[in-house]
Amino acid sequence: MKAVKLLLGALLALSASAAFAQTIKIGFITSYSGLNGNLGPYMERAVRLYIKEHQKELPPGVKIELITRDDTGPNPDKAKQLAQELIVRDKVDLLAGVIFTPNALAIAPLATEAKKPFVIMNAGTAVITTRSPYIARTSFTLWQSSYPLGQWAAKKFKTAYTLVSDFGPGHDSETAFSQAFEAGGGKVLSKVRVPLQNPDWAAYMQRVKDAKPEALMVFIPAGKTATAVMKNFSDLGLASAGIKLIGPGDITTEEELPNMGDVAIGATTVFHWSAAGERPANKAFVALWKKEFGQNETPNFLSVGSWDGTAMIFEAIKQQKGKLDPDKTMEIFKNWKNPNSPRGPIAIDPETRDIIQPEYLREVRKVGGQLMNVELETLGAAVKDPWKELQKKK
Ligand code: PHB
Repeated sequence: MKAVKLLLGALLALSASAAFAQTIKIGFITSYSGLNGNLGPYMERAVRLYIKEHQKELPPGVKIELITRDDTGPNPDKAKQLAQELIVRDKVDLLAGVIFTPNALAIAPLATEAKKPFVIMNAGTAVITTRSPYIARTSFTLWQSSYPLGQWAAKKFKTAYTLVSDFGPGHDSETAFSQAFEAGGGKVLSKVRVPLQNPDWAAYMQRVKDAKPEALMVFIPAGKTATAVMKNFSDLGLASAGIKLIGPGDITTEEELPNMGDVAIGATTVFHWSAAGERPANKAFVALWKKEFGQNETPNFLSVGSWDGTAMIFEAIKQQKGKLDPDKTMEIFKNWKNPNSPRGPIAIDPETRDIIQPEYLREVRKVGGQLMNVELETLGAAVKDPWKELQKKK
């Protein structure tokens, strides 16, 4: 009799814990191969580190399962296929990640159709968030950096030349910079778009040099391409001809600074975050990263977008006690804020589901023998995507 009672008790306890046990599945798509294949881990590490540090805040019995997939670089067909499989076969609750705009655009209609909240942790073309009501973005738009860059540059230079990768974020960066620069009285001498993969940088840099602009504004997808730009800029003598290299922070991404070497010194950029930022929350974030992954490792902006994106997902899980409803999740995302992110105070704009964040003017300098994006000035404390703000005025 006693044994039966014990067994019954054990069974009851088991079923109670089973009722509470809840696994939230996140389908995480990023690039582990192809162009920027080295950047996927900067995102995944940030997500896993956030989960490790904050797991204890989840409702009892709730676990997160991260299912990672490689979209192989800018490859919308592959991204779409992976998202489809994650939704249908793996039955994920949410989609997240994505470095490249074409991939994010390919996934957007699937998020809508399946009602899967989709947290974009990098892809930065302004239009993306308008493509599905289930998208919220915790990264940035190119307008957010390139527009204030154009305003700042108009006060420093009379002429500029723009060189951008020929796809969504490049077009946005070119338009945002040129509009702001010309509204401020500057003149854009030429706007050149280069192939996304393996452009002949030496030929393009020679054309820039011949045009003699005061500043060259470049956008390329962060990563190895940024180092190729820097080397060619220096090798073809643009720096010694007195041309100033400027751009959104993608051109001086932290993990490439050691590969660029001293040629990067003086490059001036506008961005929402830098590893060198003096905010206590940023110092803690960078220190935690080094403790976890090694003293020579540095997070980059893709890590920060992923870290904050995971914090936002945690909020939705906590508020709904582990049972996610897609529409409630989106309501929570729309109202999410963090006054103390590594980048400073951030919030999701409930109207656009894009992030509102500070933008800093930074310059590459050598600090203690290391190249850093030193933050010089806050150009805007709470910058909304300027593209959407200007559209509203039309
Ligand atoms: C994008 O495809 O949206 C993208 C890729 C790399 C960047 C920024 C934006 O550095």
